[in-house]
Amino acid sequence: MGRPTNSLRTLAIDIGGTGLKMMTLDPRGEPLNARDRRLTPEMPTPGAVLAVLEAMIAAQPEFDRVSVGFPGVVSGGVTQTAVNLHPDWIGYELEAALQALAGKPTQVVNDADMHGLGVIESAGVELVITLGTGIGSALYVDGKSVGNLELGHHPFRKDKTYEQCLGNAALEAWGAKKWNRRLGEALALWSFTFNYRVLYLGGGNTRKIRIELPENVKIVPNVAGLLGGIRLWAAGAAGGA
Ligand code: BGC
Repeated sequence: MGRPTNSLRTLAIDIGGTGLKMMTLDPRGEPLNARDRRLTPEMPTPGAVLAVLEAMIAAQPEFDRVSVGFPGVVSGGVTQTAVNLHPDWIGYELEAALQALAGKPTQVVNDADMHGLGVIESAGVELVITLGTGIGSALYVDGKSVGNLELGHHPFRKDKTYEQCLGNAALEAWGAKKWNRRLGEALALWSFTFNYRVLYLGGGNTRKIRIELPENVKIVPNVAGLLGGIRLWAAGAAGGA
């Protein structure tokens, strides 16, 4: 029954505040199809989001398991926060719901935790920050994440959090110049705080970066958010479970 473990195909799903993305990966993490992206429903309740995901899943090639990155705190497959989606996600059993929908073993973790698994080298302290609708964060020591870091909601300047200063709404309201200045300030603070070996910057808004980055700060492709879906199944990789 089913494929042997070394030939398992993973359906990787990234639930975002702006877009829903998915792609099927072969055992080495190579994409088997082009990434599908659809807009997140305007009223992003669990029911509305799952309806779009169901239609997208139907168009995917055959897969054996499902990895999902969710833009909020996830513990034990249950979504605990969803600042950029809808309050109905609080306490929602997303892992169980998607497993029922897809009919395959499913794991759900925070989106930044999954993104990180697609880019880290699993050596020393590595920090991952995603710059998108919200600010995602994941911190790894020798490849192991603490899970659900949520740096985006920590205070940054005056009475505002990192997400309020660097999220998509801030970029749109203040423009790229000010956003880049703020990003430079945040990078300095993160470096002092975490003393990381490498900081990876991911997410759609990395294309707006104009400042010069220190040598140990690397921009990584947004598709890593999906590629991390493979490593999620390696023993002990899941963050925040
Ligand atoms: C959420 C994080 C998430 C980030 C990026 C934040 O608002 O609290 O959990 O990783 O957005 O989606």
